[in-house]
Amino acid sequence: IRVLCMFGGNSVEHEISILTALSAMEHLSAERYEAIPCYVSKQGELYHGPMLKKLSAYRNLDDLCRRLKPVHVERRYGQPMLVSNGSWHRFAIPFDVVLPLFHGVNGEDGSAAGFCRMLQLPFCESDVLCSAIGQDKGVQKRLLQQAGFPIVPYAELREGETQAQWEEKLADLRYPLIIKPAMLGSSIGIEKVTDADAGMAAIRRAFAYGDHVLAETCIEDLRELNCALLHTPYGYQSSAVEEVTHQGDLLDYDEKYRGSSKNAAVKKRKWLKEGELVVMVQRMTLALASLFELRGVARIDYLYDTATKQLYVNEINTIPGSLSSYLWEWEGVDLTQLLDLIIQDGIQ
Ligand code: DAL
Ligand code: MG
Repeated sequence: IRVLCMFGGNSVEHEISILTALSAMEHLSAERYEAIPCYVSKQGELYHGPMLKKLSAYRNLDDLCRRLKPVHVERRYGQPMLVSNGSWHRFAIPFDVVLPLFHGVNGEDGSAAGFCRMLQLPFCESDVLCSAIGQDKGVQKRLLQQAGFPIVPYAELREGETQAQWEEKLADLRYPLIIKPAMLGSSIGIEKVTDADAGMAAIRRAFAYGDHVLAETCIEDLRELNCALLHTPYGYQSSAVEEVTHQGDLLDYDEKYRGSSKNAAVKKRKWLKEGELVVMVQRMTLALASLFELRGVARIDYLYDTATKQLYVNEINTIPGSLSSYLWEWEGVDLTQLLDLIIQDGIQ
């Protein structure tokens, strides 16, 4: 089975998408699959080349693009193909399924699924609507609230509103607050603020990333729990539950992805296997999977207030970083098997 691995894209999570793609391409079973890399530059151009499978090639992205072949995707006589642009050294590589490995806007947000739908390409992971809801934390919260899932008290702020309007929306919320762009992932642009002045300044900064900003009550006695799920022909399966631990108030981008060594990052992971809380998280994960019709692998992030013993849904990731492979290891599923399950889900 020839798998078109698409990644990159115009997103602040571009570099993380490269890491997810590299590990996916490396772990696709060589007996069953052929990984065909298709890199989408930040300018939205598509490229192909064998060097895309090597981490060292990504040191300078402009230089990388100059050494690659510009390509496009099309269907010819019903066959999906990756085709080189221009007339020199023409090639057309047939493929069977698209594996989107984007994070954030212009990819994970339903754009990649929409691209595949438009060209009628079989694809893995969640469909257009579900992916779009996964990206927009504001819309997601409204739906979660309507469906009766617990979420932390929040306000949604829009660009173009006056400071007085923001202040009015924040009036019912208790400080400290978490201020974050509504459309981003990977902890980018997130700040914790303790008073209204700092809040207004943080809101202004968050608008640099998009035209919606969320303000949420910060839980002081917080445990952050993550749980992944997989869509299979037999229904949804939930993974082990991970407790995220970090040094600062917030797990920031640097801590998440630029840990001094791979081991340092791994040491910060703590798996919870048993207990009432784990069962609650796993049950809620399965319920949310059905509610949003998630496909392939997805990860749901939770907040747990240890003082009140209240569990809150924080957010949904429709293409989680590293496909959340580490959450399946305790279930005895490695990344090669996980990819197998994701692809089978996509092509069936
Ligand atoms: N958006 C990042 C990649 C994640 O949540 O896994
Ligand atoms: Mg996230």
